[in-house]
Amino acid sequence: MYYEMLRNRRSIRKFSNRDLEKEKVDIILKSALLSPSSRSIRPWEFITVTDMDMLQKLSLCREHGSVFLSGAKLAIVVVANPDKSDVWIEDASIASIIIQLAAQSLGLGSCWIQVRQRFHNKEKSAEEYVRELLQIPEKYCVESIIAIGYPDEKKEPHDESKLPYGKIHYEWF
Ligand SMILES: Cc1cc2nc3c(=O)[nH]c(=O)nc-3n(C[C@H](O)[C@H](O)[C@H](O)COP(=O)(O)O)c2cc1C
Repeated sequence: MYYEMLRNRRSIRKFSNRDLEKEKVDIILKSALLSPSSRSIRPWEFITVTDMDMLQKLSLCREHGSVFLSGAKLAIVVVANPDKSDVWIEDASIASIIIQLAAQSLGLGSCWIQVRQRFHNKEKSAEEYVRELLQIPEKYCVESIIAIGYPDEKKEPHDESKLPYGKIHYEWF
């Protein structure tokens, strides 16, 4: 059941050494390409990274919040062209979460690494750092990196009784 999958999805930051089956990676990538986008413009592009050396380098894109990427088997870098759509951030975010949920549906763990608006160090943005490493053309902005692999940590499903029900407003705010 879709709701149970959502309740079980947790950000996974520790990954096992088990390789990912090509069929699973293909399903994740096809899922990304199925993402809805405004006016179906599909302003995004996806870069898959499996090379361990490159994963290690990408894991340093931020001072905090990205180091665990070095232990992942796969990174999917979500970029988009703002010239193509004024709502590229929404489109790239939707694709990012669809990648995460596709991974979850296949028994894999994942975690979103925020790149847009984040910094590598005082001089360089995380986006510039990732752009240089992966030779991303200037016209593309980098939204996120989704780290994927078989989980090597067990996290409890979200507790239904602790959901922030107060955020739901009925009929008016
Ligand atoms: C837009 C967005 C950006 C995020 N950025 C990061 C990040 O840079 N590093 C990280 O470790 N987790 C990141 N996360 C994961 C959140 O910390 C996580 O989803 C949140 O704490 C809830 O935990 P859960 O995913 O286990 O339910 C991000 C999540 C979202 C939706």
